[in-house]
Amino acid sequence: MKNVVVIGTQWGDEGKGKIVDLLTENFDVIARAQGGHNAGHTVIFGGTKYILHLIPSGILHPGKICVIGNGVVFDPFAFREELDELSGIEYLERLFISDRCHLIMPYHRAVEMAEETRLGANRIGTTNRGIGPAYEDKVARRGIRMGDLGCPEIFRKRLEELVRSKNLLLKEVYNCEPLDASRIYEDYMAISDLVLPMVTDTSVLLNQLDKEGKRILFEGAQGALLDIDHGTYPFVTSSNSTSGGVSTGTGIGPARIDGVVGIIKAYTTRVGAGPFPTEYSGDKADTYRSVGDEYGASTGRPRRCGSFDAVITRYSCNVNSVSTLVVTKLDVLDQQAEIEICTGYRYKGEVFDTVPMHCEILDQVEPVVETWKGWLQPTSGIREYQDLPGEARDYLKRLSELVETDISIVSVGPDREETIYVDESPYAGEFRIKC
Ligand code: GDP
Ligand code: IMO
Ligand code: MG
Repeated sequence: MKNVVVIGTQWGDEGKGKIVDLLTENFDVIARAQGGHNAGHTVIFGGTKYILHLIPSGILHPGKICVIGNGVVFDPFAFREELDELSGIEYLERLFISDRCHLIMPYHRAVEMAEETRLGANRIGTTNRGIGPAYEDKVARRGIRMGDLGCPEIFRKRLEELVRSKNLLLKEVYNCEPLDASRIYEDYMAISDLVLPMVTDTSVLLNQLDKEGKRILFEGAQGALLDIDHGTYPFVTSSNSTSGGVSTGTGIGPARIDGVVGIIKAYTTRVGAGPFPTEYSGDKADTYRSVGDEYGASTGRPRRCGSFDAVITRYSCNVNSVSTLVVTKLDVLDQQAEIEICTGYRYKGEVFDTVPMHCEILDQVEPVVETWKGWLQPTSGIREYQDLPGEARDYLKRLSELVETDISIVSVGPDREETIYVDESPYAGEFRIKC
């Protein structure tokens, strides 16, 4: 597999950051295709924890080319903050931003916050980063793009028109303070000196690198169930976070993509509102949250926790055409005497194993559950698949059977080293770090 996509198969936070970091040694280029700084990808190595939001996780590896593709919505101020946090890491001449990325503007955040407040109990629980409203303007064909920053006159004209209409919305509909177009103009011009040297037509760059034989790793953000088309709509993000989004979001067509690595957490989490059939409450949820340290990497919000849901993950493996799976956070289950797996949903007396289109139905289904015996021993120190306790191997085998996809890597801790390659998998050999 030359060019590979890493994708989240649940509701995000599956551990994509750790796995992208792990696989990066085998690749030359790491590219983001969608989302923005709503993502929070954690990478831990050498005792230091890094959280990447907008910048591809490959930036932590000296010499790797990192690309923020056209499908990403870009907040230059969040970008500057992230660069500051990466102090000491050399990024010049290897970090590129697409001239087609849509810019997140202050009115996007203002409108999003006002709308979430208006929705009250029905809110989506977004990250309040302006992601949805920026994509709305893109689809409505009125957005401002990265390349416009380099043409101050075009930028100012578009901005003034947009601020006029957004102020109407903010004042008349949401009863909020209007924004000042001149101030926004000055702020964006001031930051353009930092970003413009990195801006280019990244589809040309990526295709050229591909033709030179360079291997590209596409770093997915969010998860398949948050995808605008395939997710639990309307409780989703505003981009295609499934593997299909990679082609539109980078300009590398499907024929140039050779494999899709699906990341699954050994249980399920979700942050924000929306249906979650296998969600736990009370002590069980608290235990999973504290053992798994399940707090949002971007917003710090506590994540909702529940058992593994094979219905959504099988669906996800299909809509992403997942070639192979990486199971993360197996160690979080180490002290569970019994572990549940949801194999189907019961609704109005019938059992089915597909994801219903209506959230209202998914909200009411009752999970059909299998209970597996836990292994009750630590796994974080294990490096060989056959050394995992038999119960842990049985659990993994069952997950693989239910989602009809092979597992090539099992992660047993947040560190790079805390990783097991499943040698029987045809993909494991490919992914072992080649020194
Ligand atoms: P991402 O958004 O998919 O990159 O995932 P996040 O970084 O938001 O959340 C995953 C969390 O789990 C991070 O804190 C990781 O350091 C941590 N993590 C990743 N893999 C493992 C693992 O195998 N075991 C444990 N205990 N933690 C892990
Ligand atoms: P990573 O890449 C988990 C969720 C939000 C909310 C919904 C819409 O770290 O896995 P948005 O701000 O995108 O309009 O919010 O999507 N969400 C995520 N949940 N991980 C993420 O990214 C997420 N990015 C967005 O919580 O429910
Ligand atoms: Mg995350």
